[in-house]
Amino acid sequence: MYRTHTCGDLRLTDAGQTVSLSGWVHKARKMGGMTFVDIRDRYGVTQLVFNNETDAELCELANKLGREFVIQVTGVVAERSNKNNNIPTGEIEILANELVILNEAQTPPFTIEDNTDGGDDIRMKYRYLDLRRNNVRANLMLRHQIAFETRRYLDQMGFIEVETPILIGSTPEGARDFVVPSRMNAGEFYALPQSPQLFKQLLMVSGFDRYFQIAKCFRDEDLRADRQPEFTQIDCEMSFVKQEDVLNTFEGMMKHLFKFVKDIDMNESFPRMTWQDAMKYYGSDKPDIRFDMKFVELKEAVSGHDFVVFDDAAYVGGVCATACASYTRKQIDELTDFVKRPQIGAKGLVFIRCEMDGTFKSSIDKFYSQDDLKSIASMFDAKAGDLILILAGPKTKTQKALCELRLEMGSRLGFRDKNVYAPLWVIDFPLFEWDEETQRYYATHHPFTSPNLDDIPLLDTDPGQVRATAYDMVINGVELGGGSIRIHDSALQNRMFELLGFTPEKAQAQFGFLMSAFKYGAPPHGGLAFGLDRLVSLFAGLDSIRDCIAFPKNNSGRDVMIDAPSVIDQSQLDELNLVIDIKEK
Ligand code: AMO
Repeated sequence: MYRTHTCGDLRLTDAGQTVSLSGWVHKARKMGGMTFVDIRDRYGVTQLVFNNETDAELCELANKLGREFVIQVTGVVAERSNKNNNIPTGEIEILANELVILNEAQTPPFTIEDNTDGGDDIRMKYRYLDLRRNNVRANLMLRHQIAFETRRYLDQMGFIEVETPILIGSTPEGARDFVVPSRMNAGEFYALPQSPQLFKQLLMVSGFDRYFQIAKCFRDEDLRADRQPEFTQIDCEMSFVKQEDVLNTFEGMMKHLFKFVKDIDMNESFPRMTWQDAMKYYGSDKPDIRFDMKFVELKEAVSGHDFVVFDDAAYVGGVCATACASYTRKQIDELTDFVKRPQIGAKGLVFIRCEMDGTFKSSIDKFYSQDDLKSIASMFDAKAGDLILILAGPKTKTQKALCELRLEMGSRLGFRDKNVYAPLWVIDFPLFEWDEETQRYYATHHPFTSPNLDDIPLLDTDPGQVRATAYDMVINGVELGGGSIRIHDSALQNRMFELLGFTPEKAQAQFGFLMSAFKYGAPPHGGLAFGLDRLVSLFAGLDSIRDCIAFPKNNSGRDVMIDAPSVIDQSQLDELNLVIDIKEK
C-alpha cells in the first residue's frame, strides 16, 4: 500500500497514529539537526520531520530530496509546536521513520507555487507541471463539479446524453471549419463539428425528445480571451416545446449550478431584455447589468447648436458616471485616448461636469449654454458631482464604443465585482443581419432558427425587421449560452434558405439529409448550448477561459507543449493523396 491517507487528510485528532503518505516534495529545508519536508498531492500539503539524532541515515536520505521528487513516507502523526494556520494540516507533522524515493525529478523550469515565477509561455510548454499548482488544479476540479452537476440536473429532468460524430461535414455556425482529409476517399475532407446542431435536430426527429451532450466543438476563428479553437458545449435540445419551456428548463439548470456548485440561491427569475433594448441601453447583445449606467440618446436634444460633430452624427449618446465630476483633465484625456484606441474607434469624447455648486463645465461650453447643459444633465438624472460622457458618430460603431466606455467606467467605479452575478435572457434577436460588403443577409443565429411567427409576413416585405425565436443567456456581460426554437416545416425552411442566398441545389447538397428527415415527421423542437469553458471561468472569476482548460491552445492556435500543429511526413501526405503548395503570405 503506497499510502494510508492523502496529504490533505490528517488533523490533530489523528495524533499518535502511524500513517503512510505518498506524493511530491514541495519544499525541503534543513534546520540544525532536523530536516523538514513538505509533501504534496492534489489534496494538500503535510509537513514531514526527519531527526538526525534519532535516525541519522534516514535524515541523510531526506537531505538528498529535491523539489518534485516522488516519495513515500511512513511515520507517526504528532502535534506541531509551530502551527501553520494557513493550511488544514497545519496543526500536525509526521515524525518520519521510513522514506522511499519512488522517483527522482529534475528541477522544474518554474516554481510549483500559487505565485509562480514562470511566465505564460513556459507554463504552457510544461502544462503538466503547471497543473500541479493549486489554482490551476482548483479550476479543473470546479470544471468537473460543474459538468457533474449539469449531468445530475439534466438526468433528473429526463434528458439523455447521446454522443454525435466528430468527423462530419460542414455545420452552419458561421465560423471557418477545421477540415480532415480522408485517406479512403481521395480528395475529400471531413469537417469537424462547430457544434452538434444538425445531429441534435435529427435526434428530435428520431423521437429522443430531451437530448444533451457535453460536446467538443471546433471553430477556426480569431482567438480571444473567451474563445478557443476547440471548446466544450453543454448542448441541449427538446421536442414539443415553446421558447418559454426552454428558458424555464435552463434557467432551472443555471440556478441548480449556482446552488450546488457555488452555494448561491438565485431565487429571482432572470430578467428578460429584448435585443433592441440591449442595444439601445447598453450597446451590446450581452449587457453587463451588475450596474445601471444606461445609455441616454441625445441626438434630438443636442442638434441645431452649430456643433458640427453632433449635427453630422447619426447617433449621439452618453452615460453618466456617478460622483466622477472630480475627474481631472488628465483623467479625462486618458478616457479620450481609451475611446480613440483603434479597436474602439471613437473620434473623441465630450464631457459635462456637474459641479457641486449646480453649474456645469463642459468641453462644448462654446455651443451650449448653462441651461442647455442643465437640460442635457436632467436627461441622465445627473446629480451634482456626476460626470456625463458623450460619444457621437455612426450608430452601431458609436454604440459599441459607448459600451466599452460604460464597462471601463463600471470597472473604475468598482461595479464589476466578480462575486456578484447578474444573469439575464436576451430575447427577440433579429433573424437576419445585413452584410454591406457582400450585400446579402446572414442568419444571426443559424439558418434553422424559427422566425417569430407574428413576423412571418415581414419575410417578404422587410426581412431585416423579422424577429427570431432566439435567446441568449448572459451573466455579467458574458454570453454563456444561446439557442432557438427551430423551423420544423420544410416549406418555411426552404424560404429561409432562399432569403439567405442558398440555391435549392446548394441547400440540398449541404443540408439535404436534414430536409429529408423533416419529411418524415419532425416534431416542433428547440434548444440551446452553453459554453462550458465560459461557465467555469465565470464561476472561478477567471480572465481567460484558457485557465480552466487542461491543455489549451495559445493565441495563435498552437499547443506549445506538444508542438501542434506540425508538418506531417511525406508518406502520410502520399497516403492522403495531398500535395502541399504553400502560397507566399
Ligand atoms: P453558439 O454558436 O451561440 O450556438 O454557441 C453556444 C455557446 O458556445 C460558446 N462558444 C465558445 N466558447 C469558447 N470558444 C469558442 N470559440 C466559442 N464559440 C461559442 C458560447 C456560446 O454561447 N448550435 C448553437 C446552439 C443552439 O442553437 O442550440 C450554437 O452553437 O458560450
